[in-house]
Amino acid sequence: MAMIGFFLALGLSAAVPVRGQQPGFISIDCGIAENFSYNNSLTGLLYVSDAQFVETGENHNISNDFQTSSLPVQNWNLRSFPNGTRNCYTLKNIQKGNKYMIRAGFMYGNYDGQNREPQFDIYAGVNHWATMNINNASSIYGTEITVVASVNFIFVCLVDTGFGPPFISTLELRPLGNDLYKSLNESSYFHNILRYDMGSTANRSTRYPDDVYDRMWFATAFNPAWTSLNSSANINHQPNDGFEVPSMVMRTAAAPKDDGSSLQILGAAQDENSPSKYHIFLYFAEIELLRNQSRIFDIYLNGNLWVDAFSPRYLETDNIFTEEPLSFERYNITISEAAESTLPPILNAIEIYEVKQSGMETDGGDVDAIMEVKASYQVKKNWMGDPCVPTNFTWHGLNCSSSGSEPPRIISLNLAHSGLTGEIAAALGNLESLRNLDLSGNNLSGPVPDALGELPYLEFLNLSSNQLTGSIPRSLQERSKNGSLKLSIENNPDLCYASDSCERHRKISVPIIIVLSAVPVVLLVVAISAWMIRRKQQELATVSTGKPERELCSSGLVKDNNGPFQLESQQFIYKDLVRITKNFERAIGKGGFGTVYYGELGDGTQVAVKLRSQSSMQGTKEFLAEAQLLTRVHHRNLVSLVGYCKDENSLALVYEYMAQGSLQEHLAGKTSKPGALHWIERLRIALEAAQGLEYLHKGCRPPIIHRDVKTTNILLSHGREAKIADFGLSKVFQSDTLTHVSTAIVGTPGYVDPEYYYTYQLNEKSDVFSFGVVLLELITGQAALPKIPDRGHIIQWVRPWLARGDIGNVVDKRMEGQYDTNSVWKAAEIAMQCTLPTAIQRPTMSDVVMQLKDCLSLELACERTEILCMDGLNISYGDSAEGDAEVMKATLGPSAR
Ligand SMILES: *[C@@H]1O[C@H](CO)[C@@H](O)[C@H](O)[C@H]1NC(C)=O
Ligand SMILES: *[C@@H]1O[C@H](CO)[C@@H](O)[C@H](O)[C@H]1NC(C)=O
Ligand SMILES: *[C@@H]1O[C@H](CO)[C@@H](O)[C@H](O)[C@H]1NC(C)=O
Ligand SMILES: *[C@@H]1O[C@H](CO)[C@@H](O)[C@H](O)[C@H]1NC(C)=O
Ligand SMILES: *[C@@H]1O[C@H](CO)[C@@H](O)[C@H](O)[C@H]1NC(C)=O
Ligand SMILES: *[C@@H]1O[C@H](CO)[C@@H](O)[C@H](O)[C@H]1NC(C)=O
Ligand SMILES: *[C@@H]1O[C@H](CO)[C@@H](O)[C@H](O)[C@H]1NC(C)=O
Ligand SMILES: *[C@@H]1O[C@H](CO)[C@@H](O)[C@H](O)[C@H]1NC(C)=O
Ligand SMILES: *[C@@H]1O[C@H](CO)[C@@H](O)[C@H](O)[C@H]1NC(C)=O
Repeated sequence: MAMIGFFLALGLSAAVPVRGQQPGFISIDCGIAENFSYNNSLTGLLYVSDAQFVETGENHNISNDFQTSSLPVQNWNLRSFPNGTRNCYTLKNIQKGNKYMIRAGFMYGNYDGQNREPQFDIYAGVNHWATMNINNASSIYGTEITVVASVNFIFVCLVDTGFGPPFISTLELRPLGNDLYKSLNESSYFHNILRYDMGSTANRSTRYPDDVYDRMWFATAFNPAWTSLNSSANINHQPNDGFEVPSMVMRTAAAPKDDGSSLQILGAAQDENSPSKYHIFLYFAEIELLRNQSRIFDIYLNGNLWVDAFSPRYLETDNIFTEEPLSFERYNITISEAAESTLPPILNAIEIYEVKQSGMETDGGDVDAIMEVKASYQVKKNWMGDPCVPTNFTWHGLNCSSSGSEPPRIISLNLAHSGLTGEIAAALGNLESLRNLDLSGNNLSGPVPDALGELPYLEFLNLSSNQLTGSIPRSLQERSKNGSLKLSIENNPDLCYASDSCERHRKISVPIIIVLSAVPVVLLVVAISAWMIRRKQQELATVSTGKPERELCSSGLVKDNNGPFQLESQQFIYKDLVRITKNFERAIGKGGFGTVYYGELGDGTQVAVKLRSQSSMQGTKEFLAEAQLLTRVHHRNLVSLVGYCKDENSLALVYEYMAQGSLQEHLAGKTSKPGALHWIERLRIALEAAQGLEYLHKGCRPPIIHRDVKTTNILLSHGREAKIADFGLSKVFQSDTLTHVSTAIVGTPGYVDPEYYYTYQLNEKSDVFSFGVVLLELITGQAALPKIPDRGHIIQWVRPWLARGDIGNVVDKRMEGQYDTNSVWKAAEIAMQCTLPTAIQRPTMSDVVMQLKDCLSLELACERTEILCMDGLNISYGDSAEGDAEVMKATLGPSAR
């Protein structure tokens, strides 16, 4: 282990020091009193206390015996670290991407009275810098590295390796020019092995202000084989010579004493067991005025000719250096006089650096963010050095990812019960990979920042037991509702969940009925083609009910299931069907299965008879499966099966009659009843349909997936109670352990879950998606796949408007503004959650039911208080209608699929 001696002496300054601070220089005298600083008499540089750079350790003075007048004052005191394995300094205001030289000095001076010199490690960030083996109490040990800053901080850490507590006397940081050591980049760092001012006889080093970068150029130890040349002339360097070796250094040189011999510089690698890579830099300038003489030499490196017939220029600096780092165990730099030369070779200065590979550091953005968090809350703990690396020093409360090839990311942060005060630090929103964040049990006040809702991977957020105020950002609400985020907010007296429940001043537009210019509402009819496609797809469907006898649907969810169809379903024969339907007099619908006829039972109960047509794709097996299924499924929001018929000629299902037809007919304006559905009716329908689906998903074991939720399959009873119909495609989950089943795609274009579409994996969330589409249709009055060809799918059309906070342009104009905007907004939010692209992001039907209930109560509250529910009318409509039309055109995407 070669250490650079620091041959500093007070009062020996040759150059007049430039007083004060050099930009970017940080000079720390470790161990002096907080806030104390002084101008160094030798360099004129300002040395400051380390108190602002480190949070641990204790100050000591070296023992009196070592306090000599010739000892530089920086070494009179030190900071030692008796506690903790790793203690770090944080050098701030670093320019990421810049090169920095960092130098540390150590003088033991028996500060602890133990007369036991320690050995410990020093790190720059995650990179091992040196092992400091202190074995002379009165020597000053120094070590220097050059790094490229990868973040806006540089951590210098002292690690106790079990040989006495680490300490440090001085710490200096110097920004370097970019033209210096061009081969250095972030992937490596340079550990300085030596830097000699050859031929110098001074008993001190040359440094700032002679050296603009404050490199320390030391005189070599006396070598009897060498002689010194020197000049008082100024040695120049080319303007583009980034090395800027000081003239003071270049004006002396070493030469071999004996004629005809060479200059040899020999050394061994740092660790002979693991040879490293090195860079060698040689600096030459002719300092003697040559008349009829010549100085020409060859340079050999480990026996190989490196530079041939080199002749240094008069009073000009030349640099010779390795472009690629070289690997060796020992080095032998031999400078030999060339045959034609009349003068011996010279060398003015030399530097050798060991090149080391940088270790993987925590992602720079995460470091900057967590440092900001640390600063805002004054977190102490062991929060020092790199947050994640090495793993045995990962900051308490943090968990980091470790993928090996990618920089570690902070994935969890636990600051519960840490006495935090003030607001939630916005910087938390920059911890992009965060999954868990626990800030509970502190004294945090102010709002919950929106930035938290932007964290893409956040799964767990605990804000409970604080003094937070305002409302939860919408993005967080959404994610909490759809189950992708577990959010805890209890014990925050002034925090409300949703803004509707605290203050109702969301800035939104409501539709204004522009009577004259209103485009006639396009009445959309059911897309027959959709049915055709579905029928084709049905060929692929493999509908199976598995083991019917073991399937069960609870009645627990059914509150007042006291309708007329509680009884076990009846079995009919064909003759009965003829009688009931008056010989199939009135067809009321048509589906994949066949035609549906109106009928009346003997007691006058109205029924719908679904008769399988000869061409139906649905086979006997599937038909029976549906019948089986339906007999077990009883819920007020599911169309009930009255009975079925199976004989050699016919297969038929007999359902309760839904007098008001399908929701689709209502939305398309095809019903005889004049006037569109009011918002409150639409909400009730949505809630009822949602309850029906919830029952299929949660009330049945195994759960039943409807697979074809759409407005034509939501039927309205005489009292406009909504019920889900058409179980022909229903798929029963075979096992609780399966979270999805693979199946050929069935369903109706416009409603099919894209994830199911691409993966063939079906689960309850596929129904949730389709339900979301239905909800959008209820809000907008538009069909899922509208006839306007270039408008695209309803989701594509609605999403951009909502993203801009503008719901007014999508709400069904036929509702004539008769609704509470908060309630419509909430419904739109639910629809958006339901139609998120991946199943996991979507809420369950139970969540949907809960939220729709909230929605309905908002609407009811609005009606009760008899305030005009068009409270948005006087809020800005923003641009003119023309302007809006422009925006709308601009956002029309290509049509879905
Ligand atoms: C150092 O200065 C800061 C700010 O000026 C002050 O708050 C602190 O008390 C000072 N510390 C000492 C030890 O004087
Ligand atoms: C250091 O020198 C600068 C420049 O002369 C001066 O402004 C500053 O006050 C000095 N600082 C101390 C601590 O003496
Ligand atoms: C180190 O630990 C000892 C004993 O626990 C304690 O008395 C001392 O204050 C600690 N020193 C520092 C600098 O934390
Ligand atoms: C170190 O010495 C100085 C002056 O001699 C004194 O003011 C200071 O308190 C000492 N510091 C410690 C930590 O003992
Ligand atoms: C310790 O260092 C001092 C000054 O650097 C030197 O004079 C002395 O000989 C060294 N002692 C040992 C035991 O090497
Ligand atoms: C860093 O430098 C090394 C050697 O000079 C080179 O191989 C590597 O590609 C460089 N890396 C970057 C990121 O520039
Ligand atoms: C350094 O050298 C000068 C002469 O150049 C001499 O006077 C002085 O005593 C030396 N200092 C030390 C510490 O050796
Ligand atoms: C160093 O290299 C020179 C020239 O290649 C050679 O003559 C010399 O013997 C070498 N010295 C050592 C100690 O290996
Ligand atoms: C930290 O872990 C490394 C290896 O993972 C081990 O070599 C080192 O001793 C550990 N340090 C401490 C203080 O536990």
